[in-house]
Amino acid sequence: MPQSFFILSKENLELATDEVIAIAKSYDKYAKFDSYSNLLLIQSKTPWYKIAQRATFVKTAGQIIEKMSNLFLQNSSVLKNSKTIACKIINLSSKKINTTEIVRVMGNMFTKFCQAKVSLDDPDLTIYLVCTNFLSFLGFSTRVKKVSRPKKIVKCPVELDWKLSRVMINLAGLKENDVVCDPFCGTGTTLLEAESMGVHAIGIDFDKKMCEITKKNLAANGFNSQVINANFSSILKIKDKIDGIVTDLPYGMASKSSESPDKLIQKFVRIIPRDKKIAIMCKKGFENKIKLKPTKKYELYRHKSLSRTIMVK
Ligand SMILES: C[S@@+](CC[C@H](N)C(=O)[O-])C[C@H]1O[C@@H](n2cnc3c(N)ncnc32)[C@H](O)[C@@H]1O
Repeated sequence: MPQSFFILSKENLELATDEVIAIAKSYDKYAKFDSYSNLLLIQSKTPWYKIAQRATFVKTAGQIIEKMSNLFLQNSSVLKNSKTIACKIINLSSKKINTTEIVRVMGNMFTKFCQAKVSLDDPDLTIYLVCTNFLSFLGFSTRVKKVSRPKKIVKCPVELDWKLSRVMINLAGLKENDVVCDPFCGTGTTLLEAESMGVHAIGIDFDKKMCEITKKNLAANGFNSQVINANFSSILKIKDKIDGIVTDLPYGMASKSSESPDKLIQKFVRIIPRDKKIAIMCKKGFENKIKLKPTKKYELYRHKSLSRTIMVK
């Protein structure tokens, strides 16, 4: 089975690692994982680019070349069709490496074999030498279609950072053609991220103005997720249609709330359909009121008066 490598951003490594693992598992439950700091190795039938295109915090990814002969035998068409090549060293080890010299040697070898030119700017093929203190390997990536970011034409101070929305959809294990509901959709961040990944979405918000904003943001992208102007409890009417719930609960600070966040959370918790894939973000401390038996919790520091918790089930 092919092995892929993923170099992750160290900004929030636990979240980054778990997100890639959740995406890989959603496509292949037999996928196997190994990690060395911000290097994640995955053995799976799912190609690296399918995982990398969805993941939020992947900096570089590619396929591991297990044996040099495999590169030439199994991937000869990749090599033959590459007119431009770049060689790169990713040194995650504590050793100093003469990168210039190694890159020169690799460049000579591969350009000769492929009869290609060196191009650092968007090459057809990139060959990586990845070094850690424990292992070193060669890998490659080919050019993949850049994923375009959804536009957000109307913003709002209470909106959730798109990266966190995206990561929550992925941590919940939702994949293409699943249906996610955000019962506190605000400006529609969850809906935009979901639809950009091929996940259908339904947003609910009790504030008519917020629903209008979400509709405008969806329309700007040609998206057609459903928006319902109602109390969050309307989720019960659509519960048979949805596979998951991804939401950022009201904090009782800048956003409008039908009641105090405390009371609202208690009511919400009572009605959450437990058989769904769930990722909920709330103000740190509130998670104790949400008896969800999460499989994992993440704490995120925002500023000195706001830390948040993501619960995933
Ligand atoms: C923290 S904001 C969500 C922000 C959203 N994630 C975004 O990116 O724009 C909470 C939202 O919950 C909505 N809300 C508050 N009480 C509600 C209720 N009882 N039912 C549905 N929505 C409610 C507010 O109008 C607000 O838009």
